[in-house]
Amino acid sequence: MFGWRKKKNQTTETESSGIPVITLDGPSGSGKGTIARRVADALGYHLLDSGALYRLVALAAEDACVALQNSDNLTEVAMQLDVRFDSNPEGDEVVWLNGEDVTQRLRTEQTGAGASKVAQIPAVRDALFERQRAFRKAPGLVADGRDMGTQVFPDAPLKIYLTASAEERAKRRHKQLKDKGLDVSLAALSRDIEDRDRRDSERTVAPLKPAMDARFLDTTGQTIESVTQTVLDWVAEL
Ligand code: DC
Repeated sequence: MFGWRKKKNQTTETESSGIPVITLDGPSGSGKGTIARRVADALGYHLLDSGALYRLVALAAEDACVALQNSDNLTEVAMQLDVRFDSNPEGDEVVWLNGEDVTQRLRTEQTGAGASKVAQIPAVRDALFERQRAFRKAPGLVADGRDMGTQVFPDAPLKIYLTASAEERAKRRHKQLKDKGLDVSLAALSRDIEDRDRRDSERTVAPLKPAMDARFLDTTGQTIESVTQTVLDWVAEL
């Protein structure tokens, strides 16, 4: 399912522009990841979790003892990223970084905060740009992130901006972490989410914002099934 490095015989950019992309952008905890996966499964499309790439840069930097302020070295880290997306026999995603299974480390709050910091650096974003575009392969792609509709796939036929109240987003994150056996206070999580929202929306390069032609979907109080169905209904209208 996951495409990675661009191979010589892979679809070129011009050829790939007819391949449908559904972009799902929005703040942390709006449900993008879950909905993107459900929609991709329902349509048999590829999936791009672009946040994972920024998280992997943060992790690779940590492993190489590169400070999150050192933009030259971080850019090098982003350019050299040796990553493999895989799945285990149960069908769960497994992510490898430099041959190490980083599936658990990838999803921690610390890694999310690190990702949000490295994502502020324009050269890091540039280094990841073509990698993200290479995911656009037949029969189609569902891409989730912050700038999928505005920067990476501006010609996507369906762009969606997912939102949810800050309170609900913090509660969802809290439940996710609790289910994984991690005990983080709700108040601390709310503060982290606010900090991350601010950094992601206020940065100068590719800030989190809806594309001009995005459709808004507020997921507050909605089930995963109903949000997925709304997206699939919109796809059916294309
Ligand atoms: O979606 P996520 O929580 O895995 O993303 C982690 C961070 O990566 C997020 O706080 C901002 C950054 N990011 C980005 O700048 N652009 C993207 N397309 C995706 C994520």
